[in-house]
Amino acid sequence: MFDPNALLRPHLKNLVPYSSARDDYKGSEGVFLDANENPFGSITDENWNRYPDPYQKELKSAIAQIKGIPAENIFLGNGSDEPIDLLYRAFCEPGKDNVIINSPTYGMYQVSADINAVEVKEVLLTESYDLDVPAINAAIDANTKIIWVCSPNNPTGNDFTLAKIESLLSTFKGIVVVDEAYIDFAERASFAEKLAEYPNLVVLQTFSKAWGLAALRLGMAFASEAILAIMNKIKAPYNLSGLTQRTVLEALKNATEKDAMVAEILANAKELKSALQQLDVVEHIYPTDANFFLVKVKGARALYTKLIEQKIIVRDRSKVVLCNDALRITIGTKEENNKLVEALKNVKN
Ligand SMILES: Cc1ncc(COP(=O)(O)O)c(C=O)c1O
Repeated sequence: MFDPNALLRPHLKNLVPYSSARDDYKGSEGVFLDANENPFGSITDENWNRYPDPYQKELKSAIAQIKGIPAENIFLGNGSDEPIDLLYRAFCEPGKDNVIINSPTYGMYQVSADINAVEVKEVLLTESYDLDVPAINAAIDANTKIIWVCSPNNPTGNDFTLAKIESLLSTFKGIVVVDEAYIDFAERASFAEKLAEYPNLVVLQTFSKAWGLAALRLGMAFASEAILAIMNKIKAPYNLSGLTQRTVLEALKNATEKDAMVAEILANAKELKSALQQLDVVEHIYPTDANFFLVKVKGARALYTKLIEQKIIVRDRSKVVLCNDALRITIGTKEENNKLVEALKNVKN
């Protein structure tokens, strides 16, 4: 039976976590002289003088409703970058343990490993940008703690073959993280449905993409209670601001607006794709399950610079492994997409 405590870094086994001021009293009414807050209120119109709920209970129960996932299986972080970092800090001993990434993929798995002095084993995706399971299995050793699986994958845009992800979940003895930052744009159901089946699964999602709340910094990790107990023990006590908690709680009442925006982005994607296909400069548009296209072009770097001159900013991925001559283009509004297409039409290489 998988036990995350067996993977935990030794020095954390007996960690006494910070106990926050409100741990002993849960009520909202009272004379609060325990947290050295300002008793008068704030210098702003709205009052923010009290520390926020460290475990974001109200927000978690609203998210639980929307996602159909028990609140006990939800961790909320300052963007999904926070749970990414926490997983390293919890399970990977610097200079000893390693993780596997499937390149090309989201850059923070590598950066966070570098910050935490953890070795990264890089396995390349196949030619069709799918997981290379035999190569992953060959890379695993006794010190491999985490396999990062980004699906739909950034920057390639595609979902991996789901059976391949499941095969990693069922054979790997460590943690498999399935990063679903772009799941709202994909047609499949979330891996969060499989939490009961795979105790070594962590699913990441975010409010930064489909929900349009990137500036509020709210990421989610869905996992077993045992994994989340470890993450909660080592996180900063008040990791999510009161402003974020309150604003998102309010925003969740407009969940259908998110669906409408996703539908419009997907419709715009179809139009953008057919417009791009007409252009000489475009060589290949990779299939996507996300809100962006990876596009192979003639002279990616020069094109990127020419677009910037016209204040059109895309992401140059041409130096990234397996992404030669590719730009990553986020699907914008109709107007933005038209501007991009016009600029590409007029470009002289
Ligand atoms: C695959 C993937 N995961 C996570 C993130 C980070 O999301 P957040 O804004 O929640 O930190 C991104 C951002 O681009 C991403 O592409």
